[in-house]
Parts: sequence; structure tokens; C-alpha cells
Amino acid sequence: MRIAGNKFLITGGVSMIGAQITEHLLKADVREVVLFDNYSLSSPEMVGELARDPRVKLVRGDILRVNELFDALDGVGGVFATAGFLTLPLTLNPCLGIAVNVQGMVNVHEACRYRKVDKVVFSSSVATYGETGADTTEESSPWNWSKQQPGAALYGASKIMGENIGRLYEDRYGVKSISLRYSSVYGERQHLRAVNSVYIVDTYDRIARSERPIIPDDGLEVHDYIHVADIARANLMAMESDVSRESFTVATGEATTLNRLVEIILKITGSNLKPEYKTLQGKIRAATSKTMRFSNAKIARMIDWRPEIPLEDGIARLIRWRENEARQVR
Ligand SMILES: NC(=O)c1ccc[n+]([C@@H]2O[C@H](COP(=O)([O-])OP(=O)(O)OC[C@H]3O[C@@H](n4cnc5c(N)ncnc54)[C@H](O)[C@@H]3O)[C@@H](O)[C@H]2O)c1
Repeated sequence: MRIAGNKFLITGGVSMIGAQITEHLLKADVREVVLFDNYSLSSPEMVGELARDPRVKLVRGDILRVNELFDALDGVGGVFATAGFLTLPLTLNPCLGIAVNVQGMVNVHEACRYRKVDKVVFSSSVATYGETGADTTEESSPWNWSKQQPGAALYGASKIMGENIGRLYEDRYGVKSISLRYSSVYGERQHLRAVNSVYIVDTYDRIARSERPIIPDDGLEVHDYIHVADIARANLMAMESDVSRESFTVATGEATTLNRLVEIILKITGSNLKPEYKTLQGKIRAATSKTMRFSNAKIARMIDWRPEIPLEDGIARLIRWRENEARQVR
């Protein structure tokens, strides 16, 4: 599907990822972008300047009310389905989180079928793998939730449901879909709901207050941190491509320890504070593995997407954004 000249709707559009997709769509000469969001987790301030672009339309609506989707989908060619509850908000509010992630996805597809929307690109997650224990986790790796906290496992399960709702609607009604399984997304407009990436902001904030960064346990826990601009690019490429009914891991393929992450933040901020190691009890965690490697070979092969933003550059961008935010608050 062509991006230029077309109209798209982003569910959960005022999110960190929705805002970044919007930026990319505007650069790609889109005709109109509808940001459909009920503002339950975020607010229109999140998209800031973007809302002033005459091609951006903010619609307050709820994916749990299918009639609101029917109205908003007028003339829409493709939907980016980003509305969802991450592990942290889902753990805090399982009733609503499961409804949004599962029934919400049924509603999105039902509305797309009636309004003849061509394609849905779904924001899924590597949580669909759980903790595989494999040397390299690929799209075919089975879900293993046995060692996970219940909130993390429920989140993974809800994303597996979302992906399969998409496949079912493609098989039965011809609504095309692609599921993108993101690893830990970080970057500009970083919010405090993403359990892994919020650590970057917390660490930066401590350093900015001249407090020593805290590293949980031995700091050997690893994550695959992927910059939000790489995620937005994957969304546009998935929408543009002729491929459908597929799931792709969208990750850098590189595991970074918390020790290394803190080292990078200290270097960027020019700080010589010494980290403090602590065991933190009772924290909500997504995955706590010391080995993790995601293969991004499938998405590279099928839609030619590769990560472009090195971790140091991405973190420098996030810190610049955070400094700017702090200046505006003062
Ligand atoms: N951030 C990450 O690290 C990450 C990783 C993997 C997958 N994802 C997925 O990507 C998507 C976007 O992530 P994000 O970090 O930008 O999330 P976010 O929490 O910033 O955004 C979710 C958005 O959905 C909206 N929303 C919630 N319920 C709604 C409803 N019923 N109707 C309409 N809008 C509703 C919220 O108001 C919010 O703006 C989510 O589905 C998430 O599960 C994110």
C-alpha cells in the first residue's frame, strides 16, 4: 500500500510509538493521520507540535466501543494498532488491560472488515516468546512462560491473542495484517509504563540529581533495546509491503547488560558517579534473563528492515529529549 497520499488511523495514537509513527507518516507525505485514543494512559500533550499539522486529526475514542471505530475509519486505507496495556499497567489493572489487548483487537478487526480497511499493522511484543532459554530466539520459537511473573505472562498471552485475531480475520474476511514483535522500545517521549526502558530515564534522572545510579543485583540482566524511530520505520515498511499474515521480531539482535547501559548513560552525561548495586524486592518485571538474543533475520529478508540507530546515539537522543522536557517544566 502506498503511504503518500493515503489516510491512516493509529489506535492509541498519542502513545510514544504512535507519535513516532505519525512523525514518519507526515514525512512520507501522507494525506491524513487519525490519532484515535481514549487518553486513558496518555494525553494529547504527548504529540505536542505534531497536532498542529493540518493533516493530523485527534479523535477521542475507545477501541472497546466498536461504534466509535466505525465512525473514525471513514476513508482509512490502513490501521496501525498500537493501543494496548503493557505488562506494568496490565498487572495493575488486569480487568481493563486484558479487555483492551484482546477484545480491543477483535473490535479493531471487526471495524476494519466493515469499513473495508486493507491492512492492520499490529504492535505485538517479544513477550509472545516469554523466556525461551534458546541461544537465539526466532519467530518459530515456542512461548515459554513458566518462569515469568503472572502479569508478564498475561501480557504475552494477550499479544498472542491479538496476533491470531489478525490471522483469523485475514483468513475469513481478507483483512490483511502484520504483527511486529518489538523488544524493549526506548526513545523520545519515553513514558514510565515500560518496565525495561523506564530504567534508562530513572538512571538519567538520578545522575541529573547527582545521585549514584542504582544497578539491580549484579547488573548482568540483559535486554534488547530498540530505538522508537527504528520501530516507526518498521511499521511504515510493514504497511507498504505486499507481505501479510506474518509475525516479525523487531529487535536489534544485541543484548545489553544493565552494567553496560549505566556505563553509556554515565559517559553521555559526563558523570563520574559510581553505581550502587542493590537487590530490589517486589518489582514488576517483564523478563529478567541474563542471556537473550533475538534474530531479526526474518524481517530483514521479507521486508528489508534493519535497525539503524546504535544504542549510544539513541540514548543520547532520549537524554536530549528529557533535558528539553525538564527545561519546559521549569
Ligand atoms: N514500549 C515498549 O517497549 C513496547 C514493547 C513491545 C510492544 N509494545 C506495544 O506497542 C504499543 C504501544 O506502546 P507504547 O509504549 O507507545 O504504549 P503507551 O502506553 O504509550 O500507549 C498506549 C496508548 O493506548 C491508549 N489506549 C489504551 N486503552 C485504549 C482504548 N481502550 N482505546 C483507545 N486507546 C487506548 C493509551 O491512552 C495510550 O496512548 C502497545 O500495544 C504495546 O503493548 C510496546
